[in-house]
Amino acid sequence: MSGKITFTIIKPDAVRKGYTESIFDKIQMEGFRIIARKDTLLTREQAEDFYGIHKGQPFFENLVNFMTSGPIVVAALEKSNAVELFRTLIGKTNPQEAAEGTIRRLYGETVSINAIHGSDSDENAQKEVRFFFSENEVSF
Ligand code: RTP
Ligand code: MG
Repeated sequence: MSGKITFTIIKPDAVRKGYTESIFDKIQMEGFRIIARKDTLLTREQAEDFYGIHKGQPFFENLVNFMTSGPIVVAALEKSNAVELFRTLIGKTNPQEAAEGTIRRLYGETVSINAIHGSDSDENAQKEVRFFFSENEVSF
């Protein structure tokens, strides 16, 4: 059965452009509850670790540079079938291919500068929440 937790990052481009609150409003209007959120800044080591699955890809260096380029906002979100429904809400990786009304279509620019992250499985959602939040902040 699919879980009720997912994890998101408002990426540096969207934070820089002042889209953070508009994006969280939209997320909540879609029925996601914000369990916890915080402003942070990734170190290079943290970004390499978080996106470790992509190590060796041609875009990896660019991805790490981008994700460390400024403040981000991370959050744990709750809703039934959270992972799948949140991926639908954010849209395809490339904002130009993302459906009308999705967060990436509204706020993203390019495949690299795409405004927001969403977990791709229940297992990764739990790992990603734990990457940023302690058990006191978010419990499963
Ligand atoms: P994310 O993990 O950030 O939510 O994005 P995603 O699942 O939609 O895409 P994923 O395949 O996990 O890729 C992670 C991030 O790497 C950058 N990327 N660039 N061809 C490319 O240049 C390329 N492919 C991926 C994107 O910024 C993507 O969000
Ligand atoms: Mg991904």
